Amino acid sequence: MSDSKIVKLVDESNNRSSELPLISGTLGPACIDIGTLYKDTGHFTYDPGYGSTASTKSAITYIDGDEGVLLYRGYPIEQLAEKSSFLEVSYLLLNGELPDKTQFEGFEHQITHHTMMHEAQKNFFQGFHHDAHPMAMLAAAVASLSAFYHDDLDVENPADRKLAAIRLIAKMPTIAAACFRYSVGWPMRYPRNNLEYVTRFLHMMFEVPSEPLQLNPVAAKALDLLFILHADHEQNASTSTVRLVGSTGANPYASVAAGITALWGPAHGGANEAVLKQLKEIGTPDNVETAVKRAKDKNDSFRLMGFGHRVYKNFDPRAKIIREMCHKVLAELGVNDPLLDVAMKLEEAALKDEYFVERKLYPNVDFYSGIIYKALGIPTEMFTVMFAIARTAGWISHWIEQHETPGSRIGRPRQIYTGAGVRDYVPSAKR
Ligand code: CMC
Repeated sequence: MSDSKIVKLVDESNNRSSELPLISGTLGPACIDIGTLYKDTGHFTYDPGYGSTASTKSAITYIDGDEGVLLYRGYPIEQLAEKSSFLEVSYLLLNGELPDKTQFEGFEHQITHHTMMHEAQKNFFQGFHHDAHPMAMLAAAVASLSAFYHDDLDVENPADRKLAAIRLIAKMPTIAAACFRYSVGWPMRYPRNNLEYVTRFLHMMFEVPSEPLQLNPVAAKALDLLFILHADHEQNASTSTVRLVGSTGANPYASVAAGITALWGPAHGGANEAVLKQLKEIGTPDNVETAVKRAKDKNDSFRLMGFGHRVYKNFDPRAKIIREMCHKVLAELGVNDPLLDVAMKLEEAALKDEYFVERKLYPNVDFYSGIIYKALGIPTEMFTVMFAIARTAGWISHWIEQHETPGSRIGRPRQIYTGAGVRDYVPSAKR
């Protein structure tokens, strides 16, 4: 992995230098290995937001932000979106290869037979206020899995790690649906194992005891696609959180629960909820111009939610796929949503505005996903929960990869201290 090339860094102020090897992966820019920098020169590096820093080696997902490329285990997202399913993609992320028929059936069987929640976990929900945000319930419920499954969990044992991955992918839809049903006061629904993953989830969400659910197959197809597109995204904030927590030796449920809380923020997965709220606030296409003006005003903290991305500076390939699906879903479900008119006007206005063009701010995946979730009848507060169900496949794959990598160390960044210098304690009477 290490190239023969070396980057030499000389600090003329103290005459110390460091010879830093270049490391190349399969694709993407080479990285300068700064592991010996502090020892050689006495300096740390400073990169807030990690714009130029690779935190790990990983063989799971590759992104080329300039070209708008996203690969899971080498397979382009466009091909997976067209030909695969979320469960197959989960297998791929976890195991590195696409499954053959027998392998897939075995995986599906395992997932299907770990979907139920422990009965005691149902009581856990009773502790929440009826209007608790479902992301708060989800994070807590997933962390609580560590209390239910600690007996057969040795994080150093590969079979235990795999079992935890199966449990997480299997139970996440059950827990997510329970969060929703608790908030609307419906009885919890058990998973039906004769259904496939996404359809089973939609039944757990929407079926009431009093009547059978008539499900439009386009809903399951759309949701499966959204889950594929959200399944992994390299070292984003929530995945890096899972890895940082995982690096301490914490169990996978605690690590993934931490990932869920990181995902919740509006700059990350919470953007899909924020997009919908913002579209509602804008209200009609006539108000789009004012919103764009506000987004450009440096004295106003208002940002267009669903626009921009840290890595994609050309277009978000997931947004391209999802945009098409968005129109299809609305047409097939016969939804005539006025918010879509606002969204389309906003997209058009931003794409030709110099401010957005110059800064390469394109609609991202979350700009469209919220509109589809809304058309499927999923409440706004549940949007980020949907993202979390899908991303669980990625989070746990990264957690496993981290444990399989020899020589992994606890994540422990340094800082530039800007506080007070050394000073003596002053008794309170003299302050
Ligand atoms: N609206 C208006 N201006 C923006 C926006 C926006 N949505 N996003 C970035 N900018 C401006 C920003 O003010 C800055 O301008 P200037 O150079 O004049 O100071 C410039 O563009 C670069 O922005 P940045 O904040 O340095 O970019 P970043 O890479 O740190 O942030 C981002 C990326 C996604 C957090 C940001 O674009 C954003 O807040 N977008 C809205 C929230 C959103 O849609 N998030 C979902 C991301 S995709 C799904 C996921 O990964 O979870």
